[in-house]
Amino acid sequence: MKVCRTVQELREATRVWRGKGESLGFVPTMGCLHRGHLSLVERSRRENDKTVVSIFVNPLQFGPKEDFSVYPRTEEEDRRVLEQGGADLLFLPRVEEIYPPGFQTYCEVTQLTKPLCGLTREGHFRGVTTVVLKLFNIVSPQRAYFGQKDAQQAIVLTRMVEDLALNINLRVCPILREQDGLALSSRNRYLSREEREQAPGLSRALGRAESLFLEGERGARVLRDAVREELGRLPLFTPEYVELVDLGTLLPVERVESKALLLLAGRLGRTRLIDNIVLGGTYVDLGTQE
Ligand code: PAF
Repeated sequence: MKVCRTVQELREATRVWRGKGESLGFVPTMGCLHRGHLSLVERSRRENDKTVVSIFVNPLQFGPKEDFSVYPRTEEEDRRVLEQGGADLLFLPRVEEIYPPGFQTYCEVTQLTKPLCGLTREGHFRGVTTVVLKLFNIVSPQRAYFGQKDAQQAIVLTRMVEDLALNINLRVCPILREQDGLALSSRNRYLSREEREQAPGLSRALGRAESLFLEGERGARVLRDAVREELGRLPLFTPEYVELVDLGTLLPVERVESKALLLLAGRLGRTRLIDNIVLGGTYVDLGTQE
C-alpha cells in the first residue's frame, strides 16, 4: 500500500492509475478504523480497480467543546489494518495540507444540516462538506463510500453531490454491529464498562420500533414513544433526540407512508452516540445511484 502525505504526491500516484483507465473508489475516514470502515474498503475493492483511503481528523467538524484533541489517533494500527484489507493508497495529510494559511473557502448545505445533529453540533456539517469536497477534488474518485450510521451526513453529502453536479457516485453501506447490537463506532472505545453494558440498549430501542412497524404500526408518535420508553430503561443514557423523518428532506413525518428514517442520538455517560434504522426500506435508499 502506497502512503501519500501531500496533495502533490497523491495526484502523481493516482494520475498513473487514471492514465491506465483504472477506476478509483474512495473511502474518507478519520482513522481509528474498525470493521465498519473495512466493509467500505471491501465494497470499494469489489467495485473499483483501485481503492484510496484517507485518514484525516478534520478540526473543522469539531465544536469548541467537542473531542478533537482527544479523538483517538491510531496511525500504526490503521496502516496495518488497511494493508491487510487491501487498500491501494492511504492519504494521510497534515492539517496544513488541507487548510493552508489563508484558507477561507467553505461548502455548506443549508437546510438538511439544521435538524437532528445540526441542532447541537453547530458548524459540524459545514466542516464535513468542506473537507469531503476538498478530498473529492484531490482524489477525483468515481465512487465514494460512507456508512449508514452517519445517516444525516450521508444525506447531506448526497445533496452536495447533486447540487454541485459532482461526477461521483456516493455509496451508503449498512451499519456494522457488535454481536449485542451496538453499532460500530470509533467513539465506542470511550465507554466505561458500565456504559458499554448499557450501550446495546440503543439498537434494542430501535428494534422495538421496528417490531411494531412490522406488526403494522405506522404512527410516528407510537414508534418514537416505544424507542423513548426503551431508552428510559438505561440509567446512564441521556437522549438528545429520537426522530422519525423523511429520507429526502429529514423533516419529521407523522406517519410512515412507505419508508422513513428513525434516528436517535444521546450521551452514554460523556460519550455521544448515534444510531438509526430505515423503516420500510434499506440503506440503499440513501446515496446516489449509478
Ligand atoms: O464520517 C467521518 O468519518 C467523517 O465525517 C468524514 C466523512 C471522514 C469527514 O471528515
